[in-house]
Amino acid sequence: MCGIVGIVGKSAVAPQLVDALKRLEYRGYDSAGVATLNNGKLERRRAEGKLVNLESRLQDSPLEGTIGIGHTRWATHGAPTEQNAHPHFTQGVAVVHNGIIENFASLRDELKEAGAQFSSQTDTEVVAHLVSSYLAKGATPKEAAQQTLARLEGAYALAILFENHDNMIIGARHGPPLAVGHGDGEMYLGSDSIALAPFTDDVTYLEDGDWAVVTHDGVEVFDSAGNKVDRARQTSQGAAMVADKGNYKHFMLKEIHEQPEVISRTISHYVDFATETFKPISEGIDFAKLDRLAVSACGTAYYAGLIGKYWIERYARLPVEIDVASEFRYREMPLNGNMAAFFISQSGETADTLACLRYCKQSGVQIGAIVNVPESTIARESDIVFPTLAGIEVGVASTKAFTCQLAVLASIAIAAGRARCTVTDAEEKELVRALVSLERLSSDTLGSGEAKIEALSRDLAKYKNVLYLGRGTNFPLALEGALKLKEISYIHAEGYAAGELKHGPIALIDEDMPVIVIAPFDGLYEKTMSNMQEVAARGGQIILITDEKGAEHVSIDTMSTIVMPEVPEFISPIIYSLPIQLLAYHTAVFMGTDVDQPRNLAKSVTVE
Ligand code: AGP
Repeated sequence: MCGIVGIVGKSAVAPQLVDALKRLEYRGYDSAGVATLNNGKLERRRAEGKLVNLESRLQDSPLEGTIGIGHTRWATHGAPTEQNAHPHFTQGVAVVHNGIIENFASLRDELKEAGAQFSSQTDTEVVAHLVSSYLAKGATPKEAAQQTLARLEGAYALAILFENHDNMIIGARHGPPLAVGHGDGEMYLGSDSIALAPFTDDVTYLEDGDWAVVTHDGVEVFDSAGNKVDRARQTSQGAAMVADKGNYKHFMLKEIHEQPEVISRTISHYVDFATETFKPISEGIDFAKLDRLAVSACGTAYYAGLIGKYWIERYARLPVEIDVASEFRYREMPLNGNMAAFFISQSGETADTLACLRYCKQSGVQIGAIVNVPESTIARESDIVFPTLAGIEVGVASTKAFTCQLAVLASIAIAAGRARCTVTDAEEKELVRALVSLERLSSDTLGSGEAKIEALSRDLAKYKNVLYLGRGTNFPLALEGALKLKEISYIHAEGYAAGELKHGPIALIDEDMPVIVIAPFDGLYEKTMSNMQEVAARGGQIILITDEKGAEHVSIDTMSTIVMPEVPEFISPIIYSLPIQLLAYHTAVFMGTDVDQPRNLAKSVTVE
């Protein structure tokens, strides 16, 4: 997603703006730019592609000025060209924007009618022209900004710079996040606290509808009606979220290998290791009184929710309705009775998921959030937050956040079971021990199997299509495996319930379509084995991910068998995520794709 930064500084800001933008690279982008005021006059440099291109543009032609704004653009309206890169200029105004102005076409027509000349295909340029039009009618910058915001429909985080006003940036938020940073005689704006971390950890988060006037002296925040409002200052964790690759080739590989530690850290938040019991989940959600739980998320987080559904229904006997966030609202699920709604999100800023949360909140439903960023919008708008403690996840493809989401969902399922008296003391101890064994089991898995998986990935990289199959909690894992592979290697992949193969997908099976089967030796293994025989009988190539017993019982020749350690069935989806992730990662490396920032993808999708 786009990232925006702004600095009301004391020294040359262009290098600092680029520094802040580098910390937003994880969000995904395809062009970038900065603008400053030099002796009151607006100047900008923009470049297609990565920030290195903007840096060389700035080396060739430096930008002076102690106040400026910057942007990394993830193209929505208009191709990722320099011409469409932000900041967008008009007479005396520069704007950077994250989000989508939904009524930009009608506004552009109106502005063109009034003589405005557009130079880009973006929705954002409309904002610059609108502000300029109000300035031309005598409005002050504050008035012009407020009048402009009143005309905008859609989602935006904005930073606006005004010619001849070298002590003011106006920021505004409606949807995508925006934070104000408090420095020593300097002030900052950023899409999140990670962008501000090089400068400060003293931040104020704007709420939806807020706009802010940022000057050297501080910040004034106003609501959409223009009333001054107070927003709390807090210490952000962004500064602690220093992300570097260490000695790994990619952030994704580093984050895969961080899982033993971060899963264990997450579980320790929910489990009392000494008594082998779950810590009571406080803050108001009384699981015993719930008759239904809605769950919603997007992408990988949604697949985590699907697995969570199996656990919560199995152990807590609590019916779970789950849907992707972009569909949830439109199927008009009855939101009544004693129900709660849980939202799963690594970034805590996904627009579809946030919109869904607000839809449920309007119906008086209790809101829970399973998020990796405790200061995020989704977290701040929830009644109860279940943190994943995965640490900053830079790789666009979610790995450690996913397994930490599963660890939290497993903990919630058992804690809910305890509250609903569907899990006995003895069962609780057994399930806690399973969770506690995750650090060892995941370390063993990552330690022993990677070389074989890397060799197998070299073969997998030759194919154009791949099928993933699983049963039970390994069915959503098959969906996640397919997503991992396609989103970073660009190989088409589909996940299916193994039992569904004969109802259509089997028509695809031939030697050109490898089938990856996730099948620990559990109660569903035999049934899955018959599905594998259906594949083998048609010349299909099988990659089996199983354990020792499964490998002993396999009755067909496989392309390869990845043998996992013996794991308790309860936690198998968490452990079996690891070979799935490694297979996708190494295949993508062989394909030569941009593993950490795959084409067209963003780490946090803050538009619907
Ligand atoms: C994960 O590999 C994907 N990049 C994507 O599906 C992601 O899970 C989805 O966009 C949801 O993001 P969130 O968890 O930040 O809400």
